[in-house]
Amino acid sequence: MEFQLDRSHAKPLYRQLADQMIDRIRSGSLPPGTRLPPVRDLAADLGLTRLTVHNAYSELQASGWVEAFVGRGTFVAHQPVPLIEAPERQAHHDDPPWLSQGMLADMMRLGLQPDIISFAQAVPAVETFPVRELSRSIQTALRDPAALSYGPTQGELPLREAVATMVLDRNVVVSPDNVVITTGAQQGVGLVLRAFVRQGDVVLVEEPTYLGLIERATAQGIRLIGVPVDEHGMRVDMLPQLLRDYRPRLIYTVPTYHNPTGVSMSQERQQQLLQLANDHEVLILEDDVYGLLGYDGPVPLPLKASDTNGQVIYLSSFSKILTPGLRLGYLIAAEQHLAPLLAAKRVADLHCSPLLQRALADYLQRGHLSSHLRTVRYMYRERRNAMEQALQRYCPPEVRWRTPSGGLCFWVTLPPGLNATEVYTEGIERGIGLTVGSVFFPQPPRMAYLRICFAAQPPEQIDAGMAILGDLLHDHLRRRDILAARACRETQPLM
Ligand SMILES: Cc1ncc(COP(=O)(O)O)c(C=O)c1O
Repeated sequence: MEFQLDRSHAKPLYRQLADQMIDRIRSGSLPPGTRLPPVRDLAADLGLTRLTVHNAYSELQASGWVEAFVGRGTFVAHQPVPLIEAPERQAHHDDPPWLSQGMLADMMRLGLQPDIISFAQAVPAVETFPVRELSRSIQTALRDPAALSYGPTQGELPLREAVATMVLDRNVVVSPDNVVITTGAQQGVGLVLRAFVRQGDVVLVEEPTYLGLIERATAQGIRLIGVPVDEHGMRVDMLPQLLRDYRPRLIYTVPTYHNPTGVSMSQERQQQLLQLANDHEVLILEDDVYGLLGYDGPVPLPLKASDTNGQVIYLSSFSKILTPGLRLGYLIAAEQHLAPLLAAKRVADLHCSPLLQRALADYLQRGHLSSHLRTVRYMYRERRNAMEQALQRYCPPEVRWRTPSGGLCFWVTLPPGLNATEVYTEGIERGIGLTVGSVFFPQPPRMAYLRICFAAQPPEQIDAGMAILGDLLHDHLRRRDILAARACRETQPLM
């Protein structure tokens, strides 16, 4: 076996060897079942120490690429070991594997039911949609019939220019040449996964994470490994080990007003994350769809603002700040990453609607966005406060949450013994829509959570909805305690 090993490279030799073996396993030149040469023989062939080859084999084994059998040797694994309990395990057998309990569809349906007060979807308030300004901008765009023709895959130049100006507010300085317009941020996620991640590859994600990413990655056969989140965002201290063990292709993160937990990554962790990604040559996909929706004090800057060598692909959209129905978002990527992204975009849908892109560019050029943002931030701060007060007023004290300083949702931890799916189902019966927290985890969580979105409901509805939730949770706790007491009595020894 021939390998290109570079002793002067910063990457250790065992890792170079393991990486090249992974490439061969992926390409099929080392098919499943192939016996790898014994450590001693390969070390002699390559002029390496046995320890180096042994370490490479251990890495491959730990990440599921090979299997070792005492006395027989090391073999390429037949089925790379699934590292996560993918949602398909929990779904019905006839469901396609990417249907994670149908929750995304459920969330969208709940938002459309007139008799349900829905807190299920992270959506902006319909009454803020700038209908008048957008219809004027659409009329303006229609003066040029080219708005109804095909357009450039990368996106209309005036919109890319407007995006480059807009992200200056997030301290991101880019040329319009580095902007790719996408069909919402969801397509941006898909394009990055298509362009840079292959089936069987590992992507590190916050745990919990955005459901659309879990569904998209699972559909592509990508393995997700979760990194826990605390009040300062992703537990970056756990990354060195995970990077070593799993050699991920990508780290996906929502560092600012994270969906679903609402937390933001501290500056210190951001710097550590960037350093680790650079050291391990791993791309970061930073999803900043909530970055302009901060309600208290200074808004944390994105990772992209400190990215000096193009390690971060930045993603955002107009869905949360303006209207999701335009389905317009954008990626910002270094030049070396553009070609694969544009190829993926072309294959997906050629390009976004030139009419809507031009209309949005006109809206942005007229300077409407800043006053719109002022209005929605004010409104959502009030709604966030209404939700905080209602949770305090109605929920049993055992229920825990953290008030988010931005974004669109509360993340609520239920007391032990409560079942979030039962609460969700009963919630619908009583007229409220919630989201079960487990759908945001690549692996089933140990605790029960609910995500409750506040922006789409006025304060009175928030109060009415949380009163229903409070009643429901009190009922569930009573039932839990009765069952626990009965179980206790039944296990008392008879004297
Ligand atoms: C973190 C995150 N990324 C991406 C999206 C998708 O956004 P879009 O509607 O722009 O596709 C969402 C929507 O909920 C989200 O929460």
